[in-house]
Amino acid sequence: MRLDKFLADAGIGTRSEVKNAIRKKLVTVNAQIVTDPGMAVKDSDDICYRSEPVGAAKAQYIMMHKPAGCVCATKDAGKTVLDYFPEKDRKKLFPVGRLDKDTEGLLLLTDDGMFAHNLMSPRKHVDKTYYFEAEGILLADAKEQIAEGIDIGDEKPTAPAVLEIVTCDETARSVTGHLTICEGRYHQVKRMMAKMGVTVTYLKRMSIGDVVLDETLEKGQYRSLTQEEYDRLTSGGK
Ligand code: URA
Repeated sequence: MRLDKFLADAGIGTRSEVKNAIRKKLVTVNAQIVTDPGMAVKDSDDICYRSEPVGAAKAQYIMMHKPAGCVCATKDAGKTVLDYFPEKDRKKLFPVGRLDKDTEGLLLLTDDGMFAHNLMSPRKHVDKTYYFEAEGILLADAKEQIAEGIDIGDEKPTAPAVLEIVTCDETARSVTGHLTICEGRYHQVKRMMAKMGVTVTYLKRMSIGDVVLDETLEKGQYRSLTQEEYDRLTSGGK
């Protein structure tokens, strides 16, 4: 980002006021006086105005281990994922997409609408992998059907997806596995698996794109995304 924009976004003044301040040598970047308002700066640079550090008005990017029993909404009559955040940290956070109330696992929250849009837009084809436990007898050709796309009663069949079976016990009528989908339709995993003959009894999202749930997070805990995780989620091109 340009230095003058960075300073203006941080509330130092208007774009022309900060340009003046830069020309008056009141701004340093990494301890060097800078006189070019167009200099490219990054969040990690140490930027000072009148010798005081200036923090960027940073957007928030959070990974949460969503527990079952709360809804992905900012307001609801029942418990929401934001109820896990102290008031002071909620700010303008909202969940990126939705997990069902009984689904656990990786949930992203942000105050950056473009970030959320780019991850959720069906056109961006961001893979989401779910671990499931299900009851019933899985169709013998479930993998192949899912790989081709199946009719779950919507306008269009589902996009090609990947089913990986971890355990399958026909006597106990139980199946566990992973399903990777690149869409985000209503109850999509449960509906797809129902079409394949089984009822999902437990569902947990393990990853979004190349970002995997940090298993050191207990259910209900959250942390900021690392720069590397953020970069991986945004490198698909905005
Ligand atoms: N698919 C579902 O059925 N439920 C979820 O919460 C997410 C994907």
